[in-house]
Amino acid sequence: MDAKKSIARAIAAIAGLDCAELEGFIEIPKDSSLGDYAFPCFKLARSMKKPPAAIAQELNQKLADIEGVSRREVAGGYLNFFADRADLAERTIRRVLKEGDRYGGGSVGSGKTVCVEFSSINIAKPFHIGHLPSTAIGNSLNRIYDFLGYKTVAINHLGDWGTQFGRMIVAYKKWGEGRPIEEFTVRDMVKLYIRFHEEIDENDKNDPLVEEARAWFRRIEQGDEEAVALWQKMKNQTLEEDGRVYDMMDVHFDSFAGESFYEDKMQPIIDELAEKGLLKDDAGAKIVDLSEYDMPACIIVKSDGATLYATRDLAAARYRKATYDFSKSIYVVAYQQNLHFKQFFKVLELMGDEWVKDCQHVNFGMVSMEEGTLSTRHGTVVYLEDVLNAAVEKTLEIMKEKSPDLEDKEGVARAVGVGAVIWGMLYNSRIKDITFSWSKALNFDGETGPYAQYTHARCCSVLRKAGGFEPEAVDYSKLNDQASAALIKAIASLPDTVAQAAERNEPYLIARLAIVICSEFNRFYYENRIMDGDPAVRNARLALTEAARQSIKNALYLVGLRAPERM
Ligand code: ARG
Repeated sequence: MDAKKSIARAIAAIAGLDCAELEGFIEIPKDSSLGDYAFPCFKLARSMKKPPAAIAQELNQKLADIEGVSRREVAGGYLNFFADRADLAERTIRRVLKEGDRYGGGSVGSGKTVCVEFSSINIAKPFHIGHLPSTAIGNSLNRIYDFLGYKTVAINHLGDWGTQFGRMIVAYKKWGEGRPIEEFTVRDMVKLYIRFHEEIDENDKNDPLVEEARAWFRRIEQGDEEAVALWQKMKNQTLEEDGRVYDMMDVHFDSFAGESFYEDKMQPIIDELAEKGLLKDDAGAKIVDLSEYDMPACIIVKSDGATLYATRDLAAARYRKATYDFSKSIYVVAYQQNLHFKQFFKVLELMGDEWVKDCQHVNFGMVSMEEGTLSTRHGTVVYLEDVLNAAVEKTLEIMKEKSPDLEDKEGVARAVGVGAVIWGMLYNSRIKDITFSWSKALNFDGETGPYAQYTHARCCSVLRKAGGFEPEAVDYSKLNDQASAALIKAIASLPDTVAQAAERNEPYLIARLAIVICSEFNRFYYENRIMDGDPAVRNARLALTEAARQSIKNALYLVGLRAPERM
């Protein structure tokens, strides 16, 4: 049991309150000279009917010795506890060494499934930086849940259905110069799409090109061979190109069931909505009235009979429940779609799907580019692949200058460059808008991915030069100094932080802790001679270096970054 739990249990015995609740109250003071744990006694003021300072005094008198705590001190309304450093060092380092690549994880999720929908790109459209937060956050959450023992299902809900595919086909036939569709890259398809929009009059419902496009989409819907083949080829091409981006980012999906997949799964839902009296007629369209819940109506079927984005999401949610029997299903999608999610979750609730309480829209802010240099000639779209390639190139330049002798510079530059871009999306709470900046992202000293990777490589280098250590012979009392104690405390908090990151769906908590571990390691590294003359001191410091290395590596993995051993 760790000291925090022991403290909570000891106080619970006196105050007669729930142990887990008390544990939640315990704070970790920023300045560890004040104590390693602090209990805010005002939390008991109501139940003990006394002012906090008097409670602190009383608790201090009544408490017996607590396991893992060496002493305690009253400070006004707080009771502060000082951890037994050798004890914390031993428990922490032993656990890291034993659990290795799984340190920080656990088994709370065992037997449970989480669906993590993220990235959800659109076919024949650019994979742009607007998709970056969803891709980075979703991938990280997928890894975090997996680390906690959940079975995860990573889903890419492809945008592969809708009238725009009729428009694509018309544009291809008209301006594709007879080249086979297989030769069209996504950028070519985007050009065709832009051309289509230049040629039509959006306000004219009877524009002949729009009519023609509608007819082509109908042919796709009806399974017409030529139409479906064209659509399928555009889809294959997009997935192939976007697959390069996913490979670079080490992102994998278990399912690419996109919007088209639900084409034949919507009618039963529409029928059920009608049966349950939830469907209303609105000028030919079928809607679910949500005015009672202060929301605009959710349109289920348009007046021309076409289904909508929301209809497909209803079908997708039900399909996921039936197929995966999830205990939680999250959607990592920008906050612009807040209303959409509220609406279709409400419709499921009205249909009696009580499990909708386990569905959650994990939203995030917008991304923009600070330096704004990468915009293509057409508008302002910034392709993610360009951003990643530029990051890798810039990193390679820096490496050629700073570490000319490094082997496999390309591989390392890839890990660091791509990592820097991902990190930029994960270092702040999700909901903040993000301004991506090259100078910030590729900074090796600031609170960045490269800095964490660099610190990891430094740990590796120390361990490599030392030629190993004796894990069974560590004298933990040698790790008594302030710098070692602070580093151990940071390492020890990884498991709690991972659990919290999952609870709040906030990977940044792990990124922040990674930085704390790194800066504490660097302080430890500068203040202590790791290769000390005393073999017992040296062995203990090397064990701590190994625990730091492993923790940084695991934290990096959880936010989606690689940890090269040399930089
Ligand atoms: N493809 C959509 C877009 O790019 C995002 C899909 C979000 N997921 C969902 N289940 N609606 O905006």
